[in-house]
Amino acid sequence: MSSISTAHTAMASLPVVDRPPAGQLTERTPADLWHMARAVLDANWSRNHTVPSRTLYPHQWSWDAAFIAIGLARIDPDRAWHDLRSLFLAQWPDGRVPHIVFDPDVAERDYFPGPGFWQVPLRRPGHPDGTGIVQPPAHALAVWEIYQRAPGPQAEAELRWFYPRLVAAQDYLSSCRDAGGNGLASIVHPWESGLDNSPAWDAALAAVPADLGVLVGRQRHDNRVAAAAHRPTDEDYARFVALALGYRDGGYRDDDLAARHDFVVECPTFNALLAAAEHALARIAAVVGADPAVHLDRAARITRALDDQLWNPRTGMYHARDVRTGRLSPARCVSGLVPLILPGLPPDRVAALVAAAGSSRFGLSASMPVASYDRSAADFDPVRYWRGPVWININWLLRRGLREHGHLDQAETLRDAMLELVRRSGYYEYFHPETGDGVGSAAFSWTAALVLDLLGEGEAPPVSGPVD
Ligand code: SER
Repeated sequence: MSSISTAHTAMASLPVVDRPPAGQLTERTPADLWHMARAVLDANWSRNHTVPSRTLYPHQWSWDAAFIAIGLARIDPDRAWHDLRSLFLAQWPDGRVPHIVFDPDVAERDYFPGPGFWQVPLRRPGHPDGTGIVQPPAHALAVWEIYQRAPGPQAEAELRWFYPRLVAAQDYLSSCRDAGGNGLASIVHPWESGLDNSPAWDAALAAVPADLGVLVGRQRHDNRVAAAAHRPTDEDYARFVALALGYRDGGYRDDDLAARHDFVVECPTFNALLAAAEHALARIAAVVGADPAVHLDRAARITRALDDQLWNPRTGMYHARDVRTGRLSPARCVSGLVPLILPGLPPDRVAALVAAAGSSRFGLSASMPVASYDRSAADFDPVRYWRGPVWININWLLRRGLREHGHLDQAETLRDAMLELVRRSGYYEYFHPETGDGVGSAAFSWTAALVLDLLGEGEAPPVSGPVD
């Protein structure tokens, strides 16, 4: 493992791959896309992990790490294992995996809110600092994907290292975070969803005061390196900061959350990934000599709870539920389509989700993947973070769902649309859902990683070791 770390330290200084001159756009071949994606991941490698973006996100992020590992597995499985291991070194004794693991070499001023804000009490020698909140549990899925790319004794050893840690993470979410008492995990902050300022949270967030005073003496870093129109507003950030402070000052405790905390929400994507993780753990268990049946049973129970609690028959899709009020969010957001990844979903639900993805609201077509929010909504915003733009990780999950349920033609359409988007615009963080222009951060790791995965599915380019 140490040689990997050394080999990639030098890559941090490689130039960031950005949008090429316009004349070259239409000439990009799959091989060009492959090499450019690899260059993005190499440039974003920092000592023992991949940063999502050099400018906007200079530490390691939890669900990013899972998607990045899936792409790294296509070019360098050792590096994929190494990257994901570094995330789990920050796992708490209670099983939670921090949503950010902080790089001690990055200055506090280069990301807000950094370690000084989170003041996590559980610093342990040899373990990196992280935050006290989580992100969607996509890691078991990633671990299984890496294993499949390069099975063998070393990969089996990795499965044995990860299995108890993944189980602990699932146990934390399924027990400590079952704030609603109905078998689903709740998030306590929009950042935990990964879909930070999705309209899915608007109804629940309305109960949290947008007091700009909490930002006084605190400096947002994101707006200094990305366009303000592409990012959450100051009102959003005031609520984000207030919620994080509330959870932090409660000692990151999870008891009696619905009564004590201002934001307790069941997210369809988060819970779909929780169930998908149990399916992946069943496969991993079979290799490491543990019992797969436990995980299949858990997957079935989470899937049932998700369907019972979060389905809206009027809209034909899943919606976030505010545990404090019991109400479903009225917003139609892409997070409500992601349960399509679940094998045990009733066929009528599958049909409705596929129809919604292809409808004018979400707009899956040969030239455009699915938007993050209902295009016909009055507050649809094509450039602002999770309030309209197209994201590759969500579309990668949706494509997996389409394939899972035998919708192979739509799955291929979605693959082509994703590849066309990056061919035209580059490896952006997200994309304008009408023009396809890149927005947010350029040279974004999970976009590059998941495109490697899509490209690697066909005529797989050879898996190669670290670049010298
Ligand atoms: N995604 C958040 C940010 O924008 C934090 O996880 O910094």
